[in-house]
Amino acid sequence: MEVARRTGESITFDTCKEEWDDVEKQYNDFEAKHASYQQVAEKYFSQRNGCAAQVQRLQKKLDGLSSGLKSCAADPAAKAELLSLVEEKQKALNRAKNYLPRKNGFYLGLIVGQVNVSFDSQQEKYKYKDEYEKFKLNCTIFTLIASVLNYFVLHNRIADACLSFFLLWYYCTLTVRESILIANGSRIKGWWVMHHYVAVMLSGIFVIWEEGPSYQEFRSTFMAFSIYQSFIQLLQYYYQTGCLYRLRALGERDHMDITIEGFHSWMWKGLTFLLPFLFLGHFWQLYNAYALTRLSFKYMFVDWQVPAIAVLFFVMFCGNFFTTISVVYHKVKSRSTKSKNQ
Ligand code: COA
Repeated sequence: MEVARRTGESITFDTCKEEWDDVEKQYNDFEAKHASYQQVAEKYFSQRNGCAAQVQRLQKKLDGLSSGLKSCAADPAAKAELLSLVEEKQKALNRAKNYLPRKNGFYLGLIVGQVNVSFDSQQEKYKYKDEYEKFKLNCTIFTLIASVLNYFVLHNRIADACLSFFLLWYYCTLTVRESILIANGSRIKGWWVMHHYVAVMLSGIFVIWEEGPSYQEFRSTFMAFSIYQSFIQLLQYYYQTGCLYRLRALGERDHMDITIEGFHSWMWKGLTFLLPFLFLGHFWQLYNAYALTRLSFKYMFVDWQVPAIAVLFFVMFCGNFFTTISVVYHKVKSRSTKSKNQ
């Protein structure tokens, strides 16, 4: 029939009948396949829920066993041996839990309800993380272009508000995406997620900050900061995706050739390059807080947005600066313990 239609031949009843016979055959084939797929899906869901419930029961038992062992009087060597076996099983169950449905946290529950957001396979987890990084990259490029345009070309409050509104949407989306990453076993520090909530508040206040003398005085500093922040985020993207690629390669040694030393040496090179830019960004945030505090006093706190944004920039500085220091401190500490153990 397709051929007849393409060549412009007239379609007869016999051609239609032939086509119908073919469709009916294909439909019957599909029906059988779909029924078998549904059976497998039902079995898969019931097994998955069964495993999730069993993990919970086992974890409870192991927790009880572990505290019982710690408090009971027994031969210390035998006790330590059993305890280490219990701990091993606890770790194995925690790893298994990363691939099983679990209750969503408060924020995620509020937004998507109690639907399952855990991915079943490592490949899906990787894909989701890649999508998250790509999303951040695209939005960062957009923010960079918009900030450059606002700083050099457009001097318009509506264009500024559009950028702030975009940032508001972007950070809201990040909070949801990161909650899903955490539900899938990501080790993102709580502050980085918290940072996005603070950024949501900051962008929201920027949208409603009326155009007046205080706004005009701070505008160019903010646009320049936004350009610089987008630039750092591009560097961060390069570093984070580099780390991810190398970590995955470590997990798939058969396919790619990379050693743990190779990963660490790349990570340290990347960090050493990135850190000065990050710290400059943090101190710029502190400067923004200072400049806004001065503006608040200069204009006698007429616009409440000025002190509010000053406080938010200060909170951001503290969180970003101290969390980065603590991340680097822990990395240095674990490197020195590893090299001592070798
Ligand atoms: N935002 C989102 N996720 C982050 C993150 C951030 N700022 N920093 C780290 N992560 C993620 C990593 O991708 C990794 O995820 P995974 O478990 O899913 O693989 C996890 O958190 C653990 O990463 P960790 O080993 O602690 O850090 P790192 O080596 O990946 O990155 C820094 C370390 C310091 C480079 C990074 O935390 C960073 O860029 N911080 C500064 C951010 C900042 O200050 N921004 C404002 C600039 S003005």
